[in-house]
Amino acid sequence: MHGLVSRDLLRDRTVFVSGGGSGVNLAIAKACASVGANLVICGRTEEKLRAATNELEGCGAQAAYAVADVRDPGAVAAALAVAADRFGPIDALVCGAAGNFLAPAERISSNGFRAVMDIDLLGSFHCAHAAFEQLRQTRGTILFVSGGQSQMPFLHQVHVAAAKAGVDQLMRSLALEWGPYGIRSNSIVPGPVNGTEGMRRLAESATEEVWAEMVPLGRFAEPEEIGTMAAVLISPLAAYVNGAQVVVDGGMAMSGSSAFNRAVAAAAPAS
Ligand code: COA
Repeated sequence: MHGLVSRDLLRDRTVFVSGGGSGVNLAIAKACASVGANLVICGRTEEKLRAATNELEGCGAQAAYAVADVRDPGAVAAALAVAADRFGPIDALVCGAAGNFLAPAERISSNGFRAVMDIDLLGSFHCAHAAFEQLRQTRGTILFVSGGQSQMPFLHQVHVAAAKAGVDQLMRSLALEWGPYGIRSNSIVPGPVNGTEGMRRLAESATEEVWAEMVPLGRFAEPEEIGTMAAVLISPLAAYVNGAQVVVDGGMAMSGSSAFNRAVAAAAPAS
């Protein structure tokens, strides 16, 4: 976490992160842990969750995990109950669980499209829905992890674009509907981030040079750079931020996706 931010920024607050076992979501969890939050993470793979929980404890946090696939509303509700039992009602929910693969629209089966919609969009709804009562008690906050595809089409990402656009409208709708309960809803849009599963999947076609060409800052984000901004958005520093899509992408949204699209088209010509 950035040294300029108070180490007490989220002291004694509880943050629940879906998909928190790895990648950007773990970076968000670690940033929150390093400024005093208690953490509960959920995901599908217990081994990953256990290792991530150890890392969070290494950041000085009290941490717990629950195995839950966000596509299963019952499992999500049980995971949030684990959090409440351990720490009391949560103060923040991070909807981070996501799925991705590169595929031309005409080659994606109904099931493939649905898998991403179910994880990203329906899964986010399940988490928000199940967390509502706890967040109402704490006048807490929700941070959705969106993607650049929400606003700008990328080749072979039709399923992700549809899901992330849905996530952002879910966010705005909840900002409107749950704002009166004191519950803030926002989303964060990470650009390309070093060392994540999402980038590994997209890098099958687009190399680091391609991404660097699209990002005015000329480099990938470090996971901590996304984590820091997420922790600030969760914190009281952002007390009046509600319904915002916060883009943390080094300026990529201004450049368009054409360099990526050229690389993807060259790697997998249309049928
Ligand atoms: N191209 C086209 N279709 C694909 C695909 C690809 N590269 N990868 C998966 N699919 C399709 C499968 O063929 C299947 O459809 P079918 O039943 O018609 O054949 C459907 O997607 C579901 O695949 P499955 O592997 O059974 O689903 P899952 O629930 O185990 O996994 C995914 C969900 C597909 C999103 C998987 O990529 C995943 O688990 N991702 C999580 C990690 C991740 O993506 N991290 C990055 C986040 S940014």
